[in-house]
Amino acid sequence: MTSRLNLAGFTQEYIVGIEELDEQHKTFFTLLDKIGKAAPDMYRPLDEDEADAVIDVLNELRDYALLHFRTEEGYMQEIDYPGLAGQKREHNRFITDVIRMERELMNGTAMPAITIRNFMHDWYRDHILNLDKPFGQAYKKIKG
Ligand SMILES: [Fe+2]
Ligand SMILES: [Fe+2]
Repeated sequence: MTSRLNLAGFTQEYIVGIEELDEQHKTFFTLLDKIGKAAPDMYRPLDEDEADAVIDVLNELRDYALLHFRTEEGYMQEIDYPGLAGQKREHNRFITDVIRMERELMNGTAMPAITIRNFMHDWYRDHILNLDKPFGQAYKKIKG
């Protein structure tokens, strides 16, 4: 069994309908693949070198998430979206969780890469489906 089984990337069901946001979501799922490259056996606890490589990927993912959240919240402000505060809260929680994982890795906590990868993947999937998609619909209703 290779570690690349079961890795689902961006699919059509994630389409929010705002092109810039869809492109960013797509890029996020592509960046996620880098975790698998940094730690080829995703089911084994990371050794020190792998942990360093995964921390680099997490840094990149966190920077990209920050850029994306800023962009997305900008679209929300444009239409005075009532869900903005809730979205901001969730976005901040994600960043806090990523920082916590980076810190755990830096402190030598041996976790398998799949734990990190699944957390990222599942967070983004649930967030897009439950929060970003309803926003996309609200945005299109107003902007056409
Ligand atoms: Fe969002
Ligand atoms: Fe998003």
